[in-house]
Amino acid sequence: MALSKISTSHTPSQTLKPNFYSKPCVPLQCYDARRSGVSLEQHRKLRISCSVAPNQVQAPVAPAVPSDTTSNRDCYGVFCTTYDLKADEKTKSWKSLIKIAVSGAAGMISNHLLFKLASGEVFGPDQPIALQLLGSERSLQALEGVAMELEDSLYPLLREVSIGINPYEVFQDCEWALLIGAKPRGPGMERAGLLDINGQIFAEQGKALNAVASRNVKVIVVGNPCNTNALICLKNAPNIPAKNFHALTRLDENRAKCQLALKAGVFYDKVSNMTIWGNHSTTQVPDFLNAKINGIPVKEVIKDTKWLETEFTERVQKRGGVLIQKWGRSSAASTAVSIVDAIRSLVTPTPEGDWFSTGVYTNGNPYGIAEDIVFSMPCRSKGDGDYELAKDVIIDDFLRERIKKSEAELLAEKRCVAHLTGEGNAFCDLPEDTMLPGEQ
Ligand code: LMR
Repeated sequence: MALSKISTSHTPSQTLKPNFYSKPCVPLQCYDARRSGVSLEQHRKLRISCSVAPNQVQAPVAPAVPSDTTSNRDCYGVFCTTYDLKADEKTKSWKSLIKIAVSGAAGMISNHLLFKLASGEVFGPDQPIALQLLGSERSLQALEGVAMELEDSLYPLLREVSIGINPYEVFQDCEWALLIGAKPRGPGMERAGLLDINGQIFAEQGKALNAVASRNVKVIVVGNPCNTNALICLKNAPNIPAKNFHALTRLDENRAKCQLALKAGVFYDKVSNMTIWGNHSTTQVPDFLNAKINGIPVKEVIKDTKWLETEFTERVQKRGGVLIQKWGRSSAASTAVSIVDAIRSLVTPTPEGDWFSTGVYTNGNPYGIAEDIVFSMPCRSKGDGDYELAKDVIIDDFLRERIKKSEAELLAEKRCVAHLTGEGNAFCDLPEDTMLPGEQ
């Protein structure tokens, strides 16, 4: 049965008594503390969350404050349940709980992703998790619906769900931040306008992560334009290693693998070493020079170089846009799957000889790509959440020229958001022929 609790971000013994809080959290309804009439300081400490535990009694709905709170002040109703949950965890060979913050949590991508996270398929069957969900004022009611569905799913590994609209609260102590929420480009909106609007969101979220997240939080930026949003975010979070910020290009990698598999007539698990270089935009470079099919270089399997250079490349670059035409909205399920893949690539060792693509900070890269941007490159992980750039890649003239084009686009985007990265006045001279996958 779903239960709700109110807890501080400190220890259980500091948990607020029910009679302290004028509007206790009722089952399946969690809300932002600011709406409850508590003082600003109390508000900063409060975190409203719902814990999910199978086979538990239902939390009281009314009266809000129990008539007899004297005999059992530290342990009443749902609070006792919370402590039982902790005791319960000790009997299992589980890892300690990790906190995962998700922005845009009421959106379509999250609606696929959250249930995958809660099921254990991302972090493993021995990894309990807390989900800290960020929405907007407008989406708060939908966010409650998401929390309700999570509760009703009775996932044993999902120990807490909290929702809110203040990133400084929602990101508290998170070890993963999956930043999905961003404004889609509206009719008549210039690309520079989108960069500015979404950039402001990511500047604020970077500041919030810097203030309250775990010092080693891993951040995956999904909201577009994700490379430059990731750059803005990391620039606003100077106390978190820049290396910890990723822009999601795993969806592009997956799309490229699928197209190569189709052409070669093999199943897509036979395609490896698939790099996406550059920006998550139509300048991205799906690298068929280093990719392999059944361990053999793609160019030795698919001998049609013209197809590789034109049709294949464009199909991957424009796949997001084609999907939008079909669906009437951006890809959601496959994006969620690729977020899962991106996380799993960081928390499980990379198979020998292979690598994966992710957009990361370019400082110190061995490929000659401009420093101080977020660029998709081939990476390997030992499974500890960290990664190293793969060095055993070859770059020919075709690849170099394409990489330069994506680099130029990202440098232009960076100039366009200088006001958000602390680098002075913005100057927007974006190349006209480059777009987000969904923009064409
Ligand atoms: C995608 O690649 O599917 C999306 O990033 C497309 C978009 O522009 O929203």
